[in-house]
Amino acid sequence: MICDYEKTMKETEIQKLLDAVHEKYGYDFRNYSRSHIKRRLNRELALSDYKSISELAEGILLDSKRFYEMLADLFVHTTSMFRDTDFYLSFRKNVVPVLRTYPSIRIWSAGCATGEEAYSIAIILKEEGLYDQARIYATDISNSVLRKAKDGIFPIGSMKEYTELYQKSGGREAFSDYYKAEHNFAMMDPSLKKNVVFSSHNLAIDEVFAEMNVILCRNVLIYFNNDLQTRAFRLFRDSLGIKGFLCLGSKEDVRFSSLSEDFEDFEERMKIYKRRY
Ligand SMILES: C[S@@+](CC[C@H](N)C(=O)[O-])C[C@H]1O[C@@H](n2cnc3c(N)ncnc32)[C@H](O)[C@@H]1O
Repeated sequence: MICDYEKTMKETEIQKLLDAVHEKYGYDFRNYSRSHIKRRLNRELALSDYKSISELAEGILLDSKRFYEMLADLFVHTTSMFRDTDFYLSFRKNVVPVLRTYPSIRIWSAGCATGEEAYSIAIILKEEGLYDQARIYATDISNSVLRKAKDGIFPIGSMKEYTELYQKSGGREAFSDYYKAEHNFAMMDPSLKKNVVFSSHNLAIDEVFAEMNVILCRNVLIYFNNDLQTRAFRLFRDSLGIKGFLCLGSKEDVRFSSLSEDFEDFEERMKIYKRRY
């Protein structure tokens, strides 16, 4: 059972820890949602010998290996192919016909984790005959997940679930045609990576990716506080071409942000918006 240290954590101690981490390692968690940070620190304390946030701070500042182990836990990399099948059905049915009218297509998957989102979009574009004129930029703050995304090698055990999700998302082929099984792994077909650029990008500090037709930033903003969400929405507005699409996760919403006027609903239920101007 995990002990509950959350109630005894002092805001000043957390702030000090986050300031010190920013100063020493350059990672800025100061604008991440406090409840997310507290949950993660609680877990860290419960699974380690540290008795308090101050002890934990001292430990990770002296021992960078320890910090990088904790870092992997601070970012949540949970993802899947065709995560939220209704979203992908809607993307295929409603967004693809608009993309079809463009001579070239630029898509940004921001916070792509291990890349399943980018591969899912690549598969849809391939089946719709649009892949050759498309470029997908798949970015994340974490280099360790980006390496996995680039490799495109996933546990074979996930393929049964991914096949079901693919079919529910309107997939038309045999999902097994998109990967080669080798021992315990599935290697994604290299043709899916042909037009995908994987690179590091930090939504908290980095600049725009210009003239995108679609931005997917799904299940990332839930970990940000309001200020950081606002920064991200501004970045997305400025990175989208006029009437470009913004696709968020099911628990994320642009309508309550100060930039709500810059976006209009496209498929509100699926959290698909369009840049208004
Ligand atoms: C839960 S995953 C979402 C993956 C995928 N978009 C999906 O919906 O399945 C969240 C990802 O956001 C990334 N992330 C967190 N903070 C970020 C930041 N400031 N800039 C870019 N990516 C960030 C994490 O590293 C993680 O891989």
